[in-house]
Amino acid sequence: MMIEVSQIKKSFGDQVVLNSVSFSVKEGESVAIIGRSGTGKSVLIKHLVGLLSPDEGSVRVDGQDLVGMTERQLLGVRQKFGMLFQSAALFDSMSVHDNIAFPLRRSGVTEVAEIDRRVEEVLGLVELPGVGGKMPSELSGGMQKRVGLARAIVHRPQIILYDEPTTGLDPVVADSIDQLMMRVRDHYKVTSIVITHDMRCARRMGQRIIYLRDGQVYLDALADEVFNSNDPQVARFIRGEADLKEADFS
Ligand SMILES: Nc1ncnc2c1ncn2[C@@H]1O[C@H](COP(=O)(O)OP(=O)(O)O)[C@@H](O)[C@H]1O
Ligand SMILES: [Mg+2]
Repeated sequence: MMIEVSQIKKSFGDQVVLNSVSFSVKEGESVAIIGRSGTGKSVLIKHLVGLLSPDEGSVRVDGQDLVGMTERQLLGVRQKFGMLFQSAALFDSMSVHDNIAFPLRRSGVTEVAEIDRRVEEVLGLVELPGVGGKMPSELSGGMQKRVGLARAIVHRPQIILYDEPTTGLDPVVADSIDQLMMRVRDHYKVTSIVITHDMRCARRMGQRIIYLRDGQVYLDALADEVFNSNDPQVARFIRGEADLKEADFS
């Protein structure tokens, strides 16, 4: 197993966010995690890279238990990951090239020609060849996202985490990001976890879908099974329908 999350609990004060969550992800598998805003999807993903530690339970990445690791050991674990979040989070004062080179240098690659070659390779993969000399502010939001994707994969991580990669993008740009994520998945055969409430993105990226609800895994199943589910809670969520008895009007 590449990732094994076992019965993790996490509370902030008296708010229980994760209430005994378990799932695992095999090497090379591509999984989508869906659920309403505020259900703890980002909290969950932060446990995978040791940015948060569970109150109870365990998180194993590539066979190593993160709980109890030192910050230095966690840095080693984080090297296995590439991450792309809702904001591309590029460094504004660095060129596109230096942004993408950053994780590469941090992973120990120092030879300039090698760095240049790898940066150009991933820029090509996201269809932005030759933009390395530009500053992030010169690029559109969609292009910045693609640079963020290039930066997430340049050090050839074993696992890529996407947290709401298409949220806030216009549908055409979102479509291009979906296609590039699928390209990365298929090209590098990399283990992928995508958190999204965009059902098209979930369907395209997730061989398996994990539906989080009320701090628990409500359903963990193959994509076809989830998208054809007769369970009313699941079907409503997939169709994006409000459950008015539960919706808060505050
Ligand atoms: N560091 C934190 N301290 C306190 N509460 C937090 C923290 N991080 C997240 N939360 C709370 O946990 C809940 C789940 O948040 P989050 O995982 O961001 O939801 P989402 O599913 O939308 O990604 C929210 O109520 C949020 O306010
Ligand atoms: Mg979130």
